Amino acid sequence: MRNIAARIQTVDDAREFARQRLPKSIFQYYECGSGSDVTTRANLAAFEQVLFRPHVATWHPSRELRTTVLGHEISMPVVISSCGQLAIGHRDGECGVARAAGRAKTLMILSSATSTPIEQVMAAASGPVFFQLYFFGGRDASEPVIERAQRAGAKALVLTVDSPVPSRGPRNRPYRERARLPQGIGLMEALRFAPQALMRPAWFIDYLRDGLRRGSLAPEVAMCLDAQGRPMTRFDGGIKKMHQQTPRWEDIAWVRERWKGPLVIKGVLRADDARRAVDEGADAVIVSNHGANHLDGSMPSLRALPDVVAAVGHKTEVLLDSGVRRGIDVIRAMALGARAVLLGRAYVWPHLAAGEAGVDHILALFRQQVDDGLAYLGVKSIHDLDRSYLDITWPHQHP
Ligand SMILES: Cc1cc2nc3c(=O)[nH]c(=O)nc-3n(C[C@H](O)[C@H](O)[C@H](O)COP(=O)(O)O)c2cc1C
Repeated sequence: MRNIAARIQTVDDAREFARQRLPKSIFQYYECGSGSDVTTRANLAAFEQVLFRPHVATWHPSRELRTTVLGHEISMPVVISSCGQLAIGHRDGECGVARAAGRAKTLMILSSATSTPIEQVMAAASGPVFFQLYFFGGRDASEPVIERAQRAGAKALVLTVDSPVPSRGPRNRPYRERARLPQGIGLMEALRFAPQALMRPAWFIDYLRDGLRRGSLAPEVAMCLDAQGRPMTRFDGGIKKMHQQTPRWEDIAWVRERWKGPLVIKGVLRADDARRAVDEGADAVIVSNHGANHLDGSMPSLRALPDVVAAVGHKTEVLLDSGVRRGIDVIRAMALGARAVLLGRAYVWPHLAAGEAGVDHILALFRQQVDDGLAYLGVKSIHDLDRSYLDITWPHQHP
């Protein structure tokens, strides 16, 4: 695994190594955006359309990358976003990611669709862990999960508010390229999936070994319990049934009353929603279009960022994700007012390719790229970045 990790020079390298290692349908689950992929392309294009205006003849022997998020000091403004079901793709799973985040001295947001129970992830983590909540099943189902995350020691609750229906998966792929994820856990589904799995023996052997160690081959969604208190599994349809509710504003106030620590609202793209989130008690907002996984044609979060910062940046921390692939993307977002950025696919693909070592490697690359970027811009600290360093080629059309 170390060898693969060392060969990763870009997030796209990691994507290619992940593609080579995983069965097609599993890879597509982690890779694809929704619908026509318009938003996937727009996310990347938005970053490319923000260019730089560097100061020259300036040299700082070292650059300051440290910052804080909700009072937690992190060594660079790059944090791990909540991505579900990591252990299906690589057995290191959420614990491996938590260890890598801790070594990089940054924080991790653990998904409520985690394949590993929060208690195990907390035991593996050496840095702060925030817990993300989807509000699966509404208030009744969410209350015990909120309490459990609190008991486990999560430092903040990240409430995702942009998911009224489940992601529809890689339906945008041309018919011949589309591959089918198992739809259940019976024998017929296993037989249907077998050809894909047999084409990827390295992944298959790892998956079987991990399943035998855990005593079940069915991938669990560890924080979603069925009526008997057992974790639901990814492919038994239960998750889809629970995924019928997204929190409404009144639910956010309800969550605020129950959660005793900082509350973060994830998935905001509009200034008025950001204001409302802060009015309802959010301590931070995440500008995000869910990595292009939801509304096809959603605007890129980078373009939404300036309005949100203008609306609530003086009162609350504003973070951003969706389309971050390089250290210079971090700099772009920071210069537009983000407190820090979240990595999604940028760490998921290295994890799929090389597990924990892949995440170590990509975080080190991001650190170096941010540091190099600051040096080229003639900036001593990430806190000194502002719009004067940018040449923005997209129109700013919102009030
Ligand atoms: C495979 C995958 C699973 C995800 N699972 C979740 C999740 O469980 N909860 C959540 O709030 N966001 C989830 N997201 C969205 C990410 O937290 C993040 O917003 C997004 O990946 C950022 O976009 P990027 O991947 O283009 O960087 C997921 C994204 C991916 C790619």
